[in-house]
Amino acid sequence: MSILSKHKILETNATLLLIASLLVVTVGGIVELVPLFFMESTIEKVKGVRPYTPLEMAGRNIYIREGCYTCHSQMIRPLRDEVERYGNYSLAAESMYDHPFQWGSKRTGPDLARVGGRYSDEWHVNHMTDPRSVVPVSIMPAYAFLSDTVLDGAMSGAVLKTNAMVGVPYSPEMIEAATADFKAQADPDADTDGLMERYGENVNVRNFDGRPELTEMDALVAYLQVLGTMVDFSTFEPAASR
Ligand code: HEC
Repeated sequence: MSILSKHKILETNATLLLIASLLVVTVGGIVELVPLFFMESTIEKVKGVRPYTPLEMAGRNIYIREGCYTCHSQMIRPLRDEVERYGNYSLAAESMYDHPFQWGSKRTGPDLARVGGRYSDEWHVNHMTDPRSVVPVSIMPAYAFLSDTVLDGAMSGAVLKTNAMVGVPYSPEMIEAATADFKAQADPDADTDGLMERYGENVNVRNFDGRPELTEMDALVAYLQVLGTMVDFSTFEPAASR
């Protein structure tokens, strides 16, 4: 029997063909997936990545609610033009506490993975309120209404607890203090020792939108300003080059 006629046995027997295809796909899958569990560079351990503060987390939820991800990705690919425009390519570790992650592949607007610190808070507030006031050719919709909704952070504990359930290392203490931390971060006069102890010295503490009320605008700007800033790339060395 030639090899071709042997193949005919497979091709004319649906069950056998199905089993054989499954086998082939399984082998292919194992070859692709298994090394990822052992490679050091799959999720490199990097210094500085921490869970979001309650205020940043509220901003993140507004970002998702408003569908910002439909126009903005948060993933800088390791390609020269991207790295030159946006900064160091995104590391897996930088989104390991994102549930769901905001990588995306559709960019109507620029990538936002490292927008933190690129503009002032005031720029963001003006841009959100009326994008055309700072970027005349912008086609981004206005989100002025975010300034109208005052937040009290009452939900923060529950939000942190939910994230803890899917593996974000929020301690019971962080969950307990969530509402207090939420308010403290947007209040330059608040006692922020506890907040810093829980989330680190580098947490941005200020009145983000410059207005007395703590609104959705504060939360969203707090989130945008932390994006891509947790890892210090002046001292970072990729695992691949170690
Ligand atoms: C319809 C598409 C669209 C949506 C939805 C959208 N944007 Fe944009 N965004 C753009 C475009 C286009 C630009 C570039 C022009 C500009 O700066 O306004 C932009 C720019 C930005 C910038 C400046 C980035 C930079 O590096 O210059 C930020 C920050 C931003 N958007 C945040 C947001 C947030 C937050 C939301 C959700 C509340 C959002 N965008 C929703 C299209 C969009």
